[in-house]
Amino acid sequence: MESRGRFSSRIGVILASAGSAVGLGNIWRFPTEVGQNGGAAFILVYVGFVFFLALPVMLSEFVIGRSSKSNTVDAYRMLSPGTPWVITGFMGVLAGFLVLSFYSVVAGWTMHYAVSSLLCRLSAGHDFGAEFNAFISHPLLPLGYLAAFLLLSHLVVERGVQSGIERYSKWMMPLLFIIIFVLVACSLSMPGVADGLRFLLRPDFSKVTWPVVLSAIGQAFFSLSVGIGCMITYASYFGPRMRLVPSAIHVCIIDTLVAVTSGFIIFPAVFSVPGLSVDAGPGLVFITLPNVFNAAFSQIPPVGYVFSLLFYVLLLLAALTSSISMHEICTAFIHEKYGLSRRRAAWVVTLLCFVGGAACALSFGPLRGLTIHGMGIFALFDYLTAKFFMPLGGILITLFVGWKMPRMRVMDELTNGGTCSRLLAQLFFFLIRWVAPLGVCIIFVNGLR
Ligand code: PHE
Repeated sequence: MESRGRFSSRIGVILASAGSAVGLGNIWRFPTEVGQNGGAAFILVYVGFVFFLALPVMLSEFVIGRSSKSNTVDAYRMLSPGTPWVITGFMGVLAGFLVLSFYSVVAGWTMHYAVSSLLCRLSAGHDFGAEFNAFISHPLLPLGYLAAFLLLSHLVVERGVQSGIERYSKWMMPLLFIIIFVLVACSLSMPGVADGLRFLLRPDFSKVTWPVVLSAIGQAFFSLSVGIGCMITYASYFGPRMRLVPSAIHVCIIDTLVAVTSGFIIFPAVFSVPGLSVDAGPGLVFITLPNVFNAAFSQIPPVGYVFSLLFYVLLLLAALTSSISMHEICTAFIHEKYGLSRRRAAWVVTLLCFVGGAACALSFGPLRGLTIHGMGIFALFDYLTAKFFMPLGGILITLFVGWKMPRMRVMDELTNGGTCSRLLAQLFFFLIRWVAPLGVCIIFVNGLR
């Protein structure tokens, strides 16, 4: 078997992990959830969950990954041989496959919108809602974009950890930050800025119900890529000197900043065009925003054009760095478990995800009638991952690190062999042992009822 890869630098680790975290979850799913769940109050609950519940899960994944140096299934086999904990690893691989399938569909839509922006097709006089619906329900077009997107992430993963994932993350992530910066500047100069900021900053806690809280935790886990072993896989490529606690904190801060900033890009823009609504759902960035770009376009054409092109390119880049990580969970597992070459393993994943993704894509068109519990396949995949597998995985992963692994070993990882603050490590150990499993469990049980 080929030797295991390893990230070569600290900055590479942070950018690759942040690349996994920052994605459609921040720029497409976060504003959608904020819009549907009442704005500022949701954001506050969300940020609390990121730091008190999702960060401990991320650290636990780092501990499992680095101490086992294995894919997410073998990690449990190695740390706790002969026990049912390995099921948690299998759940992660299954969830990784489900997320990648529906995620690539949205990434495919993004690619289509990036091409349309480039060709100046998002222009005045269009009914963007009707156009979006016609596009996603088309029997072939979304499948073509799905295949193109999956191939892109396939090509990166196939090249391996250092020359694929790390290398591409290192240039894509900084580019992403620059684009975000330009977009915020554009959006904050639009006329709806005051209403947009009010929506984002003035909380109304009467909107916070158990289902909203479950959505917030699902969003926090989804956005940070935790609960399904993605960070276990990445941490298995960390070197021994990589400091786990500061790295996890950095990734959480970057991810939260990007999510909140995309709120600052989208909502002032939405409030700037009369007749648009903040709770447009998944169509927010595909129906509502083209109207906004258009309004900008009719006033100052180059600004509208650049704004829309940059936005969809940004979304595409972010989606790519995340999809690589989901692809990697499954590829590393198949490569190491079944002894297939990395290349072949990557192909197996790409083809399987194409089948899963096609089912999701077609659930807006020819398979529209197929529903389970009132949800189409796409909505079902999203629900199962963000509201079921991720919180459940989070509970199991923190229980494993907090109660099953020897405490000495966990503390050794958290303090990096005694070179990092012991106090901070103890604080995080407490969060991992008590706060995260109990907190997520309470929300999970109440939210599902
Ligand atoms: N965190 C990614 C995003 O915000 C999605 C993701 C989920 C990536 C799970 C990997 C694993 O878009």
